[in-house]
Amino acid sequence: MIHTRGLTKDFVLSRTETVHAVRGVDLDIAPGELVAVLGPNGAGKTTTMRMLTTLTRPTSGTATVAGVDVTTDPATVRRHIGYVGQGNGAGHQQRAADELTMQGQVYGLDRTAARRRTGELLEALDLTTLARRKVGDLSGGQRRRLDVALGLVHAPQLLFLDEPTTGLDPHNRANLWEHIARLRAEHDMTIVLTTHYLDEADTMAERVVVVDHGQVIADDTADGLKRTLAGDRVVLTVAVDGTAGRVATIVGALPGARDVTVEGARIEARVADAASAVPELVLAASAAGAPLLEALAVRPTLDDVFLALTGRSLRDDGPQTSDSTDDATQEAAA
Ligand SMILES: Nc1ncnc2c1ncn2[C@@H]1O[C@H](COP(=O)(O)OP(=O)(O)OP(=O)(O)O)[C@@H](O)[C@H]1O
Ligand SMILES: [Mg+2]
Repeated sequence: MIHTRGLTKDFVLSRTETVHAVRGVDLDIAPGELVAVLGPNGAGKTTTMRMLTTLTRPTSGTATVAGVDVTTDPATVRRHIGYVGQGNGAGHQQRAADELTMQGQVYGLDRTAARRRTGELLEALDLTTLARRKVGDLSGGQRRRLDVALGLVHAPQLLFLDEPTTGLDPHNRANLWEHIARLRAEHDMTIVLTTHYLDEADTMAERVVVVDHGQVIADDTADGLKRTLAGDRVVLTVAVDGTAGRVATIVGALPGARDVTVEGARIEARVADAASAVPELVLAASAAGAPLLEALAVRPTLDDVFLALTGRSLRDDGPQTSDSTDDATQEAAA
């Protein structure tokens, strides 16, 4: 469904300053996949999406979407895809239903078909009672659901969602996810989305693509990433002063144990399987006369994965600029 090789985007700001927003992205996404693209602010997520949705021309590299080249045949690409941008903008004074009908007509449906489609989408996204409401009066969560409906008007095979749940409360986030999951199951859609919510990427996406400084730095299932890149940890506290060293020795002998640290009464270490290590440790420490006050098995999060990959937390950010203008194309900020 998506195939890119060496996809690159440079923004030339001045004669001496170029932003290398996307630097050689290779991506293959099969039909039906739900892929989350994760990365800090400025990593190049939106720029990549804008190239795949034909809103921005790549500086170099190739990309096909639904088998169609984004550069040579953008009009056909657009017929196959839906795009819900980051902080979308439907007109404030329009009523929700009219907005959808208009969008349907933009995509070539006649008025009757566009109205019918509007009804279906209002229903599918739980917006029927809000059909006559002005877009500007909708709550954040309702508005985001309308944005998703707008992206679905022409029944695309492939839907791009740029931070669909940002700014929503946990209830509305969960609710929007339910809708996305159902739409996907019913229509066999491929979905590519970006999110800053690590827990969301973790539980909802089958596959996580981690992007940093315009490059893909990891691409696997959330579990796969955690297993290979971060790993389990145990965090132990001894009940008796002066016994932590003894426990550290026991921990060090566990399968896959490394990075064992002792700080006062607290011992931390990476181990192969924390859940099975903890009961073993409790018994062994007690038998060695160093009973534990607390023993925790800590599973890694996707933030731990990012930390392991980059040495930074996903919360950090920082745009990439340099003084090189080689191979750059000038593009006005939209
Ligand atoms: N039109 C533009 N002109 C100049 N620089 C741009 C333009 N669009 C994006 N950039 C820069 O390109 C880099 C990547 O931006 P992009 O919007 O793709 O990041 P992102 O991963 O979507 O970040 P966020 O998580 O904040 O949405 C940033 O440094 C950004 O400032
Ligand atoms: Mg973005």
